[in-house]
Amino acid sequence: MANTGLFISFEGIDGSGKSTQARLLADALRAFGHTVLLTREPGGSPGAEDIRRLVLEGDPDRWSPETEILLFTAARRDHLEKTIRPALARGEIVITDRFADSTRMYQGIRRGAGADLRAMVDDLHTRMIGVEPDLTILIDIDAQTGHSRAITRAGTELRFEEMGTALQARMRDGFLALAAKHARFTVIDGARDTAAIAADVLAAVTAKLA
Ligand code: ADP
Ligand code: TYD
Repeated sequence: MANTGLFISFEGIDGSGKSTQARLLADALRAFGHTVLLTREPGGSPGAEDIRRLVLEGDPDRWSPETEILLFTAARRDHLEKTIRPALARGEIVITDRFADSTRMYQGIRRGAGADLRAMVDDLHTRMIGVEPDLTILIDIDAQTGHSRAITRAGTELRFEEMGTALQARMRDGFLALAAKHARFTVIDGARDTAAIAADVLAAVTAKLA
């Protein structure tokens, strides 16, 4: 089958099943003969992986909200330059576990000041990134279920998992509101078994490729 460059992101709260589904989708598309680049944020290029360690490990209060937005955006810019754009130019399917919608939610909603930070995220995105995925799969799950899944695989990157379920619930609502506004989103119910979710994900992507 001919390769078609396509840019797909997975979004959702912590523990929604994004990584699991991104991996299954990559496997399924490869089985159909597509060349797939599976990547993640923050990270996805050597420089962005360095920034990942700066933002996800260590003292959670190390960075101000503004500095945090700059760091996530800097990581994304490097990821885009070094990994995403070259793969799309080669005609590959790029699947990223999180992209700019995560910054809109996590940095835009998270800390008090609200509207100002959200505007800052969008402004910086326009100036420094300037692209959106062709398709965004939102794996939707309630905060409680997401939390109980996320803590089962906790490691050193506890920073955002420790936000608590109230904030994850606001984030879920925020993701759903974004999805209602932008046609690139497909919302998939994540509170089912892995295979049922994967089938819906593959159907959404196949429709986009057709
Ligand atoms: P995310 O990347 O969104 O944080 P993961 O894919 O890492 O989520 O999944 C979080 C945890 O939940 C993992 O331990 C994973 O094995 C498990 N998990 C993923 N999908 C499901 C599912 N549909 N049902 C039950 N457990 C799941
Ligand atoms: P990730 O490894 O995807 O965590 P999870 O598998 O639990 O979803 O992402 C790590 C954390 O980084 C996650 O809690 C969300 C956060 N994050 C932001 O706060 N802003 C961003 O722009 C991105 C991409 C991630």
